[in-house]
Amino acid sequence: MSTRKILATSALPYANGPIHLGHLVEYIQTDMWTRFQKQRGVECYYICADDTHGTPIMLKADNLGIKPEELIAKTYQEHTRDFADFGIVFDNYHSTHSEENREFSSMIYKRLRDKGHISSRSITQAYDPVKEMFLPDRFIKGECPKCGAADQYGDGCEVCGATYSPTDLKNAVSAISGEKPIEKDSEHYFFNLADFTQMLQDWTTAGHLQSEVTNKLAEWLDGGLNQWDISRDAPYFGFEIPDAPGKYFYVWLDAPIGYMASFKNFCDKKGLDFDEFWQKDSETELYHFIGKDIIYFHALFWPAMLSGADFRTPSAIFAHGFLTVNGEKMSKSRGTFIQARTYLNHLNPEYLRYYFAAKLSAGVDDLDLNFDDFSQRVNSDLVGKVVNIASRCSGFIAKRFENKLSDSCAEPELFQSFIAANEEIAKLYENREFGKAMREIMALADKANQYIDEKKPWLMAKEEGKEAELQQVCSMGINLFRLLVAYLKPVLPLMAAQVEEFLNSPLQGWIDEMQPLLGHTINEFKPLMTRVDPEKIAAIVADSQENLEKTPAHSQVTQEKAKQFDPIAPEIEFDDFAKIDLRIAKIIKAEHVEKADKLLKLTLDIGDETRQVFAGIKSAYAPEDLEGKLTVVVANLKPRKMKFGMSEGMVLAAGPGGKDIWVLHPDEGAVAGMRVK
Ligand code: 2FM
Ligand code: ZN
Repeated sequence: MSTRKILATSALPYANGPIHLGHLVEYIQTDMWTRFQKQRGVECYYICADDTHGTPIMLKADNLGIKPEELIAKTYQEHTRDFADFGIVFDNYHSTHSEENREFSSMIYKRLRDKGHISSRSITQAYDPVKEMFLPDRFIKGECPKCGAADQYGDGCEVCGATYSPTDLKNAVSAISGEKPIEKDSEHYFFNLADFTQMLQDWTTAGHLQSEVTNKLAEWLDGGLNQWDISRDAPYFGFEIPDAPGKYFYVWLDAPIGYMASFKNFCDKKGLDFDEFWQKDSETELYHFIGKDIIYFHALFWPAMLSGADFRTPSAIFAHGFLTVNGEKMSKSRGTFIQARTYLNHLNPEYLRYYFAAKLSAGVDDLDLNFDDFSQRVNSDLVGKVVNIASRCSGFIAKRFENKLSDSCAEPELFQSFIAANEEIAKLYENREFGKAMREIMALADKANQYIDEKKPWLMAKEEGKEAELQQVCSMGINLFRLLVAYLKPVLPLMAAQVEEFLNSPLQGWIDEMQPLLGHTINEFKPLMTRVDPEKIAAIVADSQENLEKTPAHSQVTQEKAKQFDPIAPEIEFDDFAKIDLRIAKIIKAEHVEKADKLLKLTLDIGDETRQVFAGIKSAYAPEDLEGKLTVVVANLKPRKMKFGMSEGMVLAAGPGGKDIWVLHPDEGAVAGMRVK
């Protein structure tokens, strides 16, 4: 039994949006790593929580007409369900909106304050006089000071790529109320990060970080460290700062403290010693798995805060790159911005776990999900190599030997060579070289298949007097298969559980302790994994495009742009409304769209021309219900290219969805082309 004690975390996902495949790179990676540690007998805990505070969450709840507490409770359910269905098992999944987090945030703040690391001063910021709140940069819109593009956000232009401050925007308005922001002063609290310059120079070069990350941090450290603004004014969804009524901790102050809070919550439930893990000079190990976009927070602010408040600092930060799909940034319009749930609706989660494992390394490079490569790897490695061994051997064991394996091992050396690989594979898992580990395991699978190819049990089965050998060869195959599945268990826990059932034997502990199953009765073999069906991938892409359809147009761009930005539809002027060309349209033709679960393709007569529009109304209407009927359409919506073709307008529908969608039929007497005002 190992004496190591490990606490590992993944970054806390924001509580205002669904989990998508980009998130899953990290959660799957951490899950595989912690499962590996546990399988090795290490005392290891995987801790996470929802990141629940901040302006976007407050405004989203406001927009939905619910309290932030209700929004985060609902998101908590969705997130934990998505994770569980991907086989991601946390020892504890908590919330930053918790008593534990309030206490630790306040404790750390007070310790920093009492040591003189907090200062305050008044700063001037944009303020929305209607909504009566200060505006984060992302909530200010206007014309780009450089290229003049309209509708750009306060921190940068999407058209020309310029970055600037919101005060540089021309004709700036609040994205919340549409009102012109005013400038207003208020007192802010700052963490004096520069007090920790020496500490951070030492810490960031002491082997806690990947080399690329250390180099990046050296640039930041050389540039000098600024004070960090840790307060926000009311209204804000978060924790009020002790002794500063009306001032709240900025979400990024209490988010990493959420790691501690979730662990405390866990310790209280399990009777574990929290201090053993978090006290200064703790001998336990603490690892944070994060995306490369949040290195600044984890490798500068966080160690400085911990050290200033007399807690231990992390043993290491493991940063990873971003997920691209088919070589490009995930894109809603291309259907590659895929939510966890959309994937789960069509494909086995372990395909993705294996694919990510096969592509992950210890570096910070981006990881590409290429659908062809994905299918090919799953089909050739998992189905063609691993599962194939069991299906080749189990039939004979069942039919000829009543499911009983042979009493002796046919090739002890071959078995031992599989065991001997364990140290190298363990080292690769330990160092997060998952791709290399998968290659080693697949090389073993090739070896097992070669053995079967050489022995040709299918020929033995036809020959007289080869019974004993047939049983031995097939049992050998099954035993090698069992070792392969034990090696893959951190990556494929669900399949491993099915194999435990099939082999009637648990896969516990690490491979070095395993012995062949001899004279052992197994269960009936059930297919473990099938080839990837290309239609399912097409369906995922189509559904992801439909998810886009349901999202209000103005938030599509910004959701891609900023992970947690989800603006509220602002009040519009009459002139804005007048820009919409609403027309009565006659549905000339309605058709099913191949591979789309929700869309119908409509051919519309809008008076002076015919338009093709894709509408997500299949759950409520059959094509024949629609033909010949009248509906209302936005005729001047910019045409959009969808997977299935151009959509040249938008049909207006009402209702919550599912069967309850109504395409509005105007009064009789209306004719196609008539303008609706
Ligand atoms: O970037 C994000 O998605 C943040 N919610 C991560 C927080 S990690 C930790 F510090 F809480
Ligand atoms: Zn610009």
